[in-house]
Amino acid sequence: MAKRLVVIALCLAMAAVFRTANAEVPAIFIFGDSTADVGTNNFLPGSKARIDFPFNGIDFPNGKATGRFSNGLNSADLLAMLMGHKRSPPPFLSLDSASAVKRRSFRGINFASGGSGLLDITGQTMLTLMKFGTPKDPNDFLRSKQKNVVPLGEQMQQFHTVHDNLIDTMGPSGTENLLSKSLFFISTASNDIFGYYHSGSTIPKEEFISSLGIAYEKYLRTLLSLGARKFGIISVPPIGCCPSQRLYNATGGCLEELNEHARAFHVTMGALMEKLSCEYSDMKYSLGNTYEMTINVIENPALFNFKEVASACCGSGKLNAESFCEPKANLCSKRSEYLFWDLFHPTQTASKLAALTLYGGEQRFVSPINFAQLAAA
Ligand SMILES: *[C@@H]1O[C@H](CO)[C@@H](O)[C@H](O)[C@H]1NC(C)=O
Repeated sequence: MAKRLVVIALCLAMAAVFRTANAEVPAIFIFGDSTADVGTNNFLPGSKARIDFPFNGIDFPNGKATGRFSNGLNSADLLAMLMGHKRSPPPFLSLDSASAVKRRSFRGINFASGGSGLLDITGQTMLTLMKFGTPKDPNDFLRSKQKNVVPLGEQMQQFHTVHDNLIDTMGPSGTENLLSKSLFFISTASNDIFGYYHSGSTIPKEEFISSLGIAYEKYLRTLLSLGARKFGIISVPPIGCCPSQRLYNATGGCLEELNEHARAFHVTMGALMEKLSCEYSDMKYSLGNTYEMTINVIENPALFNFKEVASACCGSGKLNAESFCEPKANLCSKRSEYLFWDLFHPTQTASKLAALTLYGGEQRFVSPINFAQLAAA
């Protein structure tokens, strides 16, 4: 019975894809972390949060390691394609944005940076220590002037530059018209929560989650003031179930405290989006509940044709989660049977399922409307 329901749900998702194929957004602007990064960190020399080497990208056209934290495409790529775009928007740092916005083919820009978060500190020190191995002297990172990631605040400044370039090119009303119809896709906060948890912070959980909501509100208001009106927000998945976090649970189960933070963050985001949409009557949004989507897969892997939802496809050691995916790592043979590509990130197959669900899924997974309805709104 459950299986039939899922099949029906997927068919409905596909039907929605075809029905609304003409409802396209003119441009897509993507912000956030490694779940949406398409190569931003490749432009940060010396960054410890780069992944532009094999076996990453093994299923990308020509097996290219593009800097995506995946064996192939990520959810941001796949959503852009579902929304009728021929290609995923390129990284801001790869462009001369003043000339990029003049092109007739201009369809958006990707600002997302792996390892980044809402807080400026995220990804620069603690998380880097945690994610990319502890160096002999931990102060190495603190002393280093290297930039590891582009925090969300700086991604906003970069968008401000693009906004000004657009005004120069198409004038204020042309820019307002374009941006009000464009999609603003944001996937962030997981790394802030990792940093909070692993730093052993004494800030109470409620206070920390609410500080993330305050930071998010500030950035959303920045985008609203620059003309954004359609938001696709991805909240935090069950990050306690990442292979890397299962290592902290002696049973190999999920790290429940991290999952609780993820659920609390989703509640905060629901309230924030509702508040902002009351204030801005022409604002529309979809809030993707990746917690619900992913936990559903972890609890019923066979329904979604996954065989392995705990260990990583590429890595080393216990659960293949003791190192990142690199040329000497163990690589699984059937990548499409794995939920996780590496110790933190989903496989292309998992990302495709997520993108399809965000695009055409029901309210349990994306609300108050899905991305197809958001595009058409
Ligand atoms: C570890 O996983 C088990 C399930 O296998 C769960 O019941 C337990 O709460 C988890 N422990 C922690 C510390 O999260």
